Amino acid sequence: WPRGAKRDEGVLNVGGIDVRDLAAEYGTPLYVYDEDDVRARAREYAAAFHDGDVHYAGKAFLCTAVAKWLNEEGLGLDVCSGGELAVALAAGFPVEKITLHGNNKAPWELERALEAGVGRVVLDSFEEIARLGFLARERGVRPKVMIRVTTGVEAHTHEFIATAHDDQKFGFSRSSGAALEAVRRVLELDQLELVGLHSHIGSQIFETDGFEVAAHRLAELLVAIRDEHGIELPELDLGGGYGIAYVPGDEPHDPKAIADGLRAIVARECKAYGLNMPRLTVEPGRAITGPGGVTLYEVGTVKDVEGLRTYVSVNGGMSDNLRTALYGAEYTCVLASRTSDAPPMLSRLVGKHCESGDIVVRDLWLPEDLAPGDLVAVAATGAYCRSMASNYNYVPKPAVVAVKDGASRVIVRRETDEDLLRLDAEASA
Ligand code: LLP
Repeated sequence: WPRGAKRDEGVLNVGGIDVRDLAAEYGTPLYVYDEDDVRARAREYAAAFHDGDVHYAGKAFLCTAVAKWLNEEGLGLDVCSGGELAVALAAGFPVEKITLHGNNKAPWELERALEAGVGRVVLDSFEEIARLGFLARERGVRPKVMIRVTTGVEAHTHEFIATAHDDQKFGFSRSSGAALEAVRRVLELDQLELVGLHSHIGSQIFETDGFEVAAHRLAELLVAIRDEHGIELPELDLGGGYGIAYVPGDEPHDPKAIADGLRAIVARECKAYGLNMPRLTVEPGRAITGPGGVTLYEVGTVKDVEGLRTYVSVNGGMSDNLRTALYGAEYTCVLASRTSDAPPMLSRLVGKHCESGDIVVRDLWLPEDLAPGDLVAVAATGAYCRSMASNYNYVPKPAVVAVKDGASRVIVRRETDEDLLRLDAEASA
């Protein structure tokens, strides 16, 4: 739950506002972000590293309001598509603090990044090195670039979100020598300014040893590059991936402990080989916006499936939160609009979509007197929920509301049927 959230007589209050009032004013389903929570987490990461060395991963959730909050808190921004870049630019985000990612950036995305003058482009393939070199020469610019390295770390997380083992699509592998070959090719091109190496080992990771092994292996590569080319790259970016608490037992990272641990490892390696300490940067997404977001739903039906469990259907589902269906993700959910003394019943929180896999929370206990019209709240939905939302079954995407000091405002409005029909080229007016 967001740090400032409270429950009074069972009623959830976020950012100083009763969720019943939010539901009445904005409707449900509703994504609610506690602005203070998001800003506080951003500040903690910024303080643990250095100003400008924390780049928020916009894929977790991006809109112009959030981009502005994070800019005000001193963060940079990582975008991985032309669309995310467009949002960042619309927010007036300082371009030199934007990094462009992606394993298959289209030429127009590279062009847009060069035209905007983004701070760094993270190169992911040999084709892209040549492509960006060509586009930069055409424009007479010299972008700063990093090389994404797959360090061979097997992160302890769901296989879909682990990204540094060898058998996957991202980056240049360290073990095969592709990473050093990428360095050679970039250095051959005067149009590209190589500033460092990048690694992202995966997401929702709790053990810090994976990050530390990656840091160690990148530092070794810095040494190999120095020995081969006589240059010291000034930056190592260790990506994101810091886990957050979804259910009891999840132990999130302390940003300061992460920063200190990583610095110690890189410093040790640099000292051993006589290298200058590079600048260490990171790209947390989930850890910044995840915990501050809550989804409110209204209960529509409560169906007892004899001897098994009770299916509680809410007015959203896999279109606003795909993570349970996709990764078997777990969430915490409570009755948020009243108190109840009724005994708990084993429940499954499901959506309104035409799929039996449309599950929001697989197993949870809700009070037996749960009834249509009750509001339930799902915690920690601030990352990878709105950003992965779909219009499956032509269900409009929910509104996003920011709350702070007892006030609320829409930061992304709810889709309407008109929005859904706007792209249908043959719909009659
Ligand atoms: N940097 C890079 C290059 C990334 O690919 C990612 C996430 C991040 C940073 C941020 O990772 P975070 O700190 O948020 O874990 N949809 C999945 C997560 C996929 C993450 C993809 N890349 C989920 O819902 O769990």
